[in-house]
Formats: sequence, structure tokens, C-alpha cells
Amino acid sequence: MSVKNDVLHMLEQNKGKSISGQELAENLGVSRTAVWKAINLLKEDGFLIEGISNKGYSLAISSDLLSSEGIRLYLKDEYKELPVKVYKSINSTNTEAKLMIMNNAVHGTVILAEEQLSGKGRMGRGFYSPPESGIYMSIILKPKLNMNDSVLITTAAAVAVSLAIEKTTGIVTQIKWVNDIYLNDKKICGILTEAVTDMESGTIESVVVGIGLNIKTESFPVDIENTAGSIFKIGETKFIRNQLSAEIINNVLSVLNDISSRKFIEIYKERSMILGERIRYFRDNQWFEGYAQDIDSNGALIVFHDNGHKEILNSGEITV
Ligand code: BTN
Repeated sequence: MSVKNDVLHMLEQNKGKSISGQELAENLGVSRTAVWKAINLLKEDGFLIEGISNKGYSLAISSDLLSSEGIRLYLKDEYKELPVKVYKSINSTNTEAKLMIMNNAVHGTVILAEEQLSGKGRMGRGFYSPPESGIYMSIILKPKLNMNDSVLITTAAAVAVSLAIEKTTGIVTQIKWVNDIYLNDKKICGILTEAVTDMESGTIESVVVGIGLNIKTESFPVDIENTAGSIFKIGETKFIRNQLSAEIINNVLSVLNDISSRKFIEIYKERSMILGERIRYFRDNQWFEGYAQDIDSNGALIVFHDNGHKEILNSGEITV
């Protein structure tokens, strides 16, 4: 770790409070000049650090930049040592995660970015990822699951994100099958899960769970401006991006450990915005209409058509 990382760790730990240069230097076993240089580098990165004469330095409560130090503070003890890498700007955290898998990244490695230049969505779409507005995160999993359980990773991740949002903000969100998260009828989060298979055995070697969450996005491109939303309205933001990122990581890893119990399916159903509703879905080049009756233990959607025909959907996109 560099002096800069160590100073940031102490400032994040004491967010909103002042620590003197002397105290920082003594605690970290470095000179006051080294502390001063680290503070300047952090300011250049955009951290809101106030220097108060005779009192020292303080990281402002309103400083909301993502950092591995800020995230690590809120990780469960068992996950504190996991690699967490934060980029200022990147094409796509999922693409980076897949590169890292080729370089033997370990289970639980996390990649985040303040901005994505070509964020990827499902079905070849993009994901709008403007700077410092959301959480764009990929978690690398080496799941050791059977095929039935591994298809449930995305469903489990949607529950993990919804619970993390509630714990951090008190806001209860809804889940639209398969894995979109909604608040006030607007999509605030999408999840793109990509599997990396072992070419020789054909088995799933690693899975990248990519999560894109709009926290305080002020405006959206025209094609999604009526459907996309953010957790916070303009001017009502809370500065919780590091904590929320950590809670998402905690939850995704814990739910995964217990995936075979299917406990998360109950929460998924409670938060579903489509159960009991009439829905439309597109398949084999045509639209179908039906009644969304249930979600089974494999995350499949059970739909009844008006003629009584029952259909079990394993994937796809629906409209309500
Ligand atoms: C969707 O709604 O279609 C899924 C969107 C997934 C977006 C996230 S943002 C982090 C990760 N990196 C990407 O390029 N995509 C996922």
C-alpha cells in the first residue's frame, strides 16, 4: 500500500472528523511531508479534503468518490482482504473482469469504475454510465455450482442488490423478472451476468456478475429518458456509494454461498413487480400475453394464457 492509500484509509475511517498531520504521520510511520504530498494527490483525484488550521485534515461528509479504502471499511470481516479495484474511467468493468480471469483473478475480485465509456447491457444493448453518478461494478465468481444453481446467480444477485439498497438507504425496490430493479416504475439497476467456460471441459469456470446502478444520474439519453431512473432525486442525494458498493458485495457473496437453499427466491417473489399482473413477452418473432402466476425454485416465470395454457419461461424480456 502507498502512503496515499494509507492516508485515504484513515480519512475514510474518520470521515467528517479532523485528524492532524502529526497524528497521520505517527500512525502511518511516515514524515509529515509525505502526508502532505499524499493529501495533495488525493485532492487532485477529486477527494473533498478540508485543511483546517491547527486541527488538520478532514474528508468532507459530502465526499462520495469510490475507493477501495472506502468500500473495504464496510465489507464483512471474511471479505476484507478481497481485491477491490476502482477505475476512474474504463470501457466496461465486465470486459476488464474477463481479462482479469485470464490472469487468474481470484473468487470475489471486484472491479468498479466511476465512468464506463462503453458499458454493456443485456441483448447487445449499452448501459449508460456517466461519471460519479452510479455504481458500475463487476464481481468475479468461481462458483463451484451445478448447472441448475449457476443459472440462478443473476436472480440471486438481483435480490442481493435490492437488499443492499434497503439496508443502506431504507428504500425498498421492486424486481422485474428476470433481473431489473425498479423504483417508482423506473429502472434503476440492470445486471449482466457473463459466464467464462473452460474450452477443454466445457464447464463454467468463472462468472462475471456486472451490476449497473443509477444513484444520482441527473439526466438520461432520449431513448431511455422515460424508463430509466435513479435511487435519489436531484438535490436529495446521500453520500453512500462506498457503503452501498460494499453491501452489494457482502450480499452477492453471502447469497451465493447459500444458493442451493433457494431462500432468496421468497424475497425475490415478495419484491416482484409482475406477479399477479398481466404481462406481454416476445418469443419466436411474436408477442404473447398472459398472467404471471408464480416464480418457481429455479427462477423460471410461470405464465398462464387466457386459454388456460401454462408456460414456463426460463429467459426473455417481458413488459407489464
Ligand atoms: C442491463 O440492464 O441490460 C444490464 C446492465 C448491466 C450494466 C453493468 S455496469 C457494470 C457492468 N459492466 C458492464 O459493461 N455492464 C455491467
